Amino acid sequence: MTIEQCKILKLTKVHEVRGSLTFIEGSNHIPFDIKRVYYLYDVPDETKRGKHGHEKLQQFIIAMSGSFDVVLDDGQNKKTFTMNRPSYGLYVAPMMWREVINFSHGAVCLVLASENYDENDYFRNYDEFMKKVKENKV
Ligand code: TYD
Repeated sequence: MTIEQCKILKLTKVHEVRGSLTFIEGSNHIPFDIKRVYYLYDVPDETKRGKHGHEKLQQFIIAMSGSFDVVLDDGQNKKTFTMNRPSYGLYVAPMMWREVINFSHGAVCLVLASENYDENDYFRNYDEFMKKVKENKV
């Protein structure tokens, strides 16, 4: 997996004088079957979330409200994605170390996930993540 596989995808925005609407049809718009949805909110100023990797999990991250930055690291390259529009989402491939930082006040970070919660899929330690990155290269 390389960071090049992680991309911002544009969702449809139905913009009317009555307001805007964006929809997601799992099989049409998301590159995996959605098994779980969770969201981060009430994040205090200066707080960083994430700081971990996943072996198999794929995610699609949307700033439903406010803004934040997602910093991805595939073990070789790092890229920062600023999320600030609810009609765009970030596809996160497996084996990416991530940090979610710079939450604006009141930001809501929605995450669509390819698997149910499984602590065994996490790398909580960067050195262990890097060890797996190197093993996968052999
Ligand atoms: P974690 O994934 O570490 O959050 P973040 O990366 O945003 O800092 O999860 C924080 C806590 O919430 C941890 O104790 C596990 C729990 N959790 C669940 O029980 N189910 C879930 O779907 C998620 C994402 C987390």
